[in-house]
Amino acid sequence: MSETVKLVVGDNSYEFPVIEGTENEKAIDIGKLRDLTGYITMDPGYKNTGACSSNITYLDGENGILHYRGYSIESLAEQSTFLEVSYLLIFGELPSKSQLTQFETDIRKYTLVNEEMKNILDGFPKTAHPMGVLSSLTSALTAFNPKAVNVNNDKEMYDAICKTMAKFIVIATWTYRKSMGYPLNYYDNTKGYVDNFLRLMFELPTGPYNIDPKIVSALDKLFILHADHEQNCSTSTVRMVGSSHAGLFASISSGVSALWGPLHGGANQAVLEMLEQIKNDGGDVDKYVLKAKDKDDPFRLMGFGHRVYKNFDPRARIIKKAADDVLGTLGVDDPVLEIAKKLEKVALEDEYFKARNLYPNVDFYSGIIYRALGIPVDMFTVMFAIGRLPGWIAQWKEMRANKEPIGRPRQIYNGATPRDYVSLDKR
Ligand code: SDX
Repeated sequence: MSETVKLVVGDNSYEFPVIEGTENEKAIDIGKLRDLTGYITMDPGYKNTGACSSNITYLDGENGILHYRGYSIESLAEQSTFLEVSYLLIFGELPSKSQLTQFETDIRKYTLVNEEMKNILDGFPKTAHPMGVLSSLTSALTAFNPKAVNVNNDKEMYDAICKTMAKFIVIATWTYRKSMGYPLNYYDNTKGYVDNFLRLMFELPTGPYNIDPKIVSALDKLFILHADHEQNCSTSTVRMVGSSHAGLFASISSGVSALWGPLHGGANQAVLEMLEQIKNDGGDVDKYVLKAKDKDDPFRLMGFGHRVYKNFDPRARIIKKAADDVLGTLGVDDPVLEIAKKLEKVALEDEYFKARNLYPNVDFYSGIIYRALGIPVDMFTVMFAIGRLPGWIAQWKEMRANKEPIGRPRQIYNGATPRDYVSLDKR
């Protein structure tokens, strides 16, 4: 007998089924709530509301656990590659060697971005924020690849996935090249995916760009750590937009816009700006911890806190170690890293943060590595987007495969009650 729960409304009692997942998470299925009771639920920010069932990523916020398709983030960060993890997230299983080779080959078919896309890029000022440019260019891909709009079979879905993986990383780097006044680079199909990212970003016509394998390895790990995170704000946006049967490029473009916000993916940029502010203000971390606790002060400790993790974000732990390794390898002595560690120590010992389970999240240390790699601050969230792309694709694919209904939440109306129109001369 499967579990049910009872709800008493007035003189009536209703039973609702309970859904249990493979990791023993439980949800009350309220699919018939309004029809039966006339009531809806209210849950701003969806803190208690599940939007879907998913086989892709599992989070345990209380114990700081993150699994992609059952594999721990620690094992994948240590042993896998970003393209292999992308395959795992999108298709559900770790690929064989031939499957992975075929996936990379099929991505390489589409790495040339239509030259006319450059006309769109030229329309932006050099000062435009890269995330705004990336969102626009991603949406514009639809114009040049219309078949990727409504995927009605597995072949069209696979091609749309390969096109997105191929073109997104190129246009993402074009946002940086544009801001620097550099000529745009092309993907080199003889090199790896992450190698190409570095070349696309930094290679200049004046001479070869030497790829440092240690930097490739660090970036590969960072992209893996950002690849998916169940129903976060930007992923939920991708699923919502895709639920109207908008195409994959349009859905990903909306995810880029949602990720841009400083409370979400934009936090990695905000963390560096905060650490710089503390450094320039004499490094007084106590002062900023006090500001973060002051309800009358809008200042928040960026990179701290999380909607789901009420324990250490497992990704932050891995990235913190990677920051030490990368800066050590590159011989970079960044005072901001020391300020970050001091800030973390002070905050973790402070009752305000402990009482609210506020720990460093994925964004707290990532920017320090990006900066050491020569990536400008306003490109940090673009880095997050490149990492999150396979997760967005996987979740969009799952939503379409499950034939999920169009997303359309209800509301409680609190506005004016019925009243008669008053003509202009009487107002
Ligand atoms: C990401 O969802 C995901 O999975 C996201 C992500 C992913 O991989 O997709 O993990 C990536 O977005 C990580 C989060 C990056 N954002 C930041 O670092 C911005 C700073 N963090 C906060 O804005 C906040 O912690 C959120 C937005 C991350 C979570 O906010 P919640 O869950 O809505 O919590 P809340 O705002 O209701 O805060 C609860 C309490 C409040 O105090 P009280 O009203 O209870 O007294 O904690 C306080 C908040 O004021 N609080 C903070 C704080 N975060 C929460 N106080 C100071 N500094 C902070 N950073």
